[in-house]
Amino acid sequence: MFEMLEEIRAYGLTSIGSADGLEALEKARVELLGRKGRLTSLLKGLGQLTTEDRPKAGQALNMLKQELEAACENKKAEIARQGIAVRIKGFDPSLPGRQMHSGALHPITQVLDEVCSIFGRMGFSIATGPEVELDFYNFEALNIPADHPVRDMQDTFYIDDKVLLRTHTSPIQVRTMEKTSPPLRIIAPGKVYRCDSDVTHTPMFHQVEGLMVDRDVSFSDLKGILTFFLQEFFNAEAAVRFRPSFFPFTEPSAEVDIQCVICRGVGCRVCSQTGWLEVLGAGMVHPEVFRHVGYDAEEFTGFAFGLGIERFSMLRYGIDDIRLFYENDLRFLRQF
Ligand code: PHE
Repeated sequence: MFEMLEEIRAYGLTSIGSADGLEALEKARVELLGRKGRLTSLLKGLGQLTTEDRPKAGQALNMLKQELEAACENKKAEIARQGIAVRIKGFDPSLPGRQMHSGALHPITQVLDEVCSIFGRMGFSIATGPEVELDFYNFEALNIPADHPVRDMQDTFYIDDKVLLRTHTSPIQVRTMEKTSPPLRIIAPGKVYRCDSDVTHTPMFHQVEGLMVDRDVSFSDLKGILTFFLQEFFNAEAAVRFRPSFFPFTEPSAEVDIQCVICRGVGCRVCSQTGWLEVLGAGMVHPEVFRHVGYDAEEFTGFAFGLGIERFSMLRYGIDDIRLFYENDLRFLRQF
């Protein structure tokens, strides 16, 4: 009996293993496990054994039955896999899957969102304006008349005599004040354009404009808000300083520096050994700008500021070539 079992086992495993398709496999299965199969016949012969031998033989028979059934199932799965591989030529389903990378926000967008959220917490709401802008809003209403030399500072892309690509986000100040009466507190993020290109300049970049107008807004409000913002964005311990400067649409005007975020003020290549980084232009809104939008400069005062998002991003991440932001190289972008 046990010899026969062993023989059926060896024969069965070979015939299952060598089946070259589902049909052949089924044939092998029926020959072994079918109603008239070799194993089934043995099972029927159990009754002729002595009561002593019967349980042992029964157990061995059952184990063999299970083993052969499992071998059939495995073979069936193997044949199915091979079938897929043949149908999809060149596709190997046993190879590990290709990893999918999830997308993420561009570093410029991330920094832009962060800047907006810091000012949002201070009660500033968001304003927008067109990128293709009228000369009037980009220059004229900002106290930069046609023959003003400051126009040369901003290398403007003109579309025609009166239409241009905005060179800064300041025209949004004018458009917002035209539509809204004070008090107001806005920031205006957006793309701006200048004919300029090197490691720190691209023809398109992003600015965020800020504007606050109310009764009794003073230069110290400007200092407080910008100092808070810079320490929130860069480093709570960093010193901030205001230097006198000039913009036609603010008076007085200032450039704002933060202690170098790379060397912490010691002096390095990024800050040209000065220990300071210039990060913002700002000032008190010029009465001439108020006149253009019909605000009473005797009753209201305000401040405005502007900053470049690419510069903030470069300092935040220690990037020394602005063009990396626009090459869309995934090896760069995946780091954010
Ligand atoms: N618009 C100025 C620029 O692009 C920045 C600025 C904005 C300065 C607001 C003062 C006030 O250079």
